[in-house]
Amino acid sequence: MQEPAENPCDLDALFAAAAGARERAYAPYSRFPVGAALRDEAGRIHVGCNVENAAYPLGACAEANAIAAMICAGGSRIRDVAILGALDAETPPCGGCRQRLAEFADARTRVHLRAGPTGPIRSFALSDLLPVAFGPRSLDREIPE
Ligand code: THU
Repeated sequence: MQEPAENPCDLDALFAAAAGARERAYAPYSRFPVGAALRDEAGRIHVGCNVENAAYPLGACAEANAIAAMICAGGSRIRDVAILGALDAETPPCGGCRQRLAEFADARTRVHLRAGPTGPIRSFALSDLLPVAFGPRSLDREIPE
């Protein structure tokens, strides 16, 4: 976990954290390293990288590991998430990770995609990437903030 960035809207810091995580990815099978950096409700940044396995389905996505880091550090809501893949092209979160992110997202959550570490950034509301989501309310549950 890293301490809060000076500027809560500093996307360069968030992408720098994602790039650092991507350096540590374990992706010998796909050769597609991914880094993800989350900013939580307190402004803290949590990172994750993809970790593959010789038993292919056991591999974990970068976003899943960043979420685990956030939860372990006591964070609960995702304000921003930046994702960087192996190419100088945007890496959109896979469908499963959209669902994982949605569990900890709200109307303010933004997903930031960048075409390489210094390329142009596009930002999305998670609800635009995962409309009509299945969530706690689908189970008639309210998750306390
Ligand atoms: N991957 C992620 O880490 N996040 C995504 O949202 C898309 C895919 C990883 C999984 C696998 O290790 C590699 O990228 C190629 O699919």
